[in-house]
Amino acid sequence: MIDLNAAFALTGPEDCARLYAEWAASYDTGFADSLDYRLPAHVAAAFLAHGGTGPVLDVGAGTGLLAGHLRDMGFAGEIDAVDLSPAMLDAARAKGLYRTLRQADITRPLSFDGPYGGIVSSGTFTHGHVGPEAIAQLETQAAPGALFVLSVNEGVYRAMGFDAALAQRPGVTLLVVQIYGPAAAEKDPDHAAQRGLIAIWRHGGDGVAG
Ligand SMILES: C[S@@+](CC[C@H](N)C(=O)[O-])C[C@H]1O[C@@H](n2cnc3c(N)ncnc32)[C@H](O)[C@@H]1O
Repeated sequence: MIDLNAAFALTGPEDCARLYAEWAASYDTGFADSLDYRLPAHVAAAFLAHGGTGPVLDVGAGTGLLAGHLRDMGFAGEIDAVDLSPAMLDAARAKGLYRTLRQADITRPLSFDGPYGGIVSSGTFTHGHVGPEAIAQLETQAAPGALFVLSVNEGVYRAMGFDAALAQRPGVTLLVVQIYGPAAAEKDPDHAAQRGLIAIWRHGGDGVAG
């Protein structure tokens, strides 16, 4: 079984693809259910609370947990997935949640099926994963006024420069959420208390309400 220390210590795209190839089959049960992983639900709720509309690009979609929560919360628009890991995308594809699933590195120039009305992400901007340089790539796929709702692990927010990158976008709202529920305290005490910052803004806009 993969532990979070291994995931947080990734050193680049090849390392990442290797780890997620191994993790994909057990990710939903061995990780998400086991630790009561709540971040995708928080991002989905924030997207809908701020009036998000489709089509949506789910960035670092993994096995599709965020799209699953959007559907459970009543979102009926189109959702596309992008992820570096073919194995994670295969697990997501099997759930039938997405219009299109694409394998790509989001730190590189992108060409998708947008422009998108919403760009969402949970768990991808974290230790050993993706830094703020991807935001400019994602903006190339966003429609004017598109709603961005991206989680950033609190532990990398300043260390990787998300604070500076988001200061350049007008009207970013930050929500602070617990990444895991109470079950994590016993199963993974080292990571159980970690928090996510959910950054919310309108592309090219003046800010979001709330
Ligand atoms: C912790 S998982 C989160 C998956 C899902 N969003 C969730 O919340 O369960 C992080 C995902 O980011 C993907 N990822 C990491 N680096 C990436 C990159 N440079 N481009 C695209 N996806 C990447 C990984 O393959 C993995 O599926």
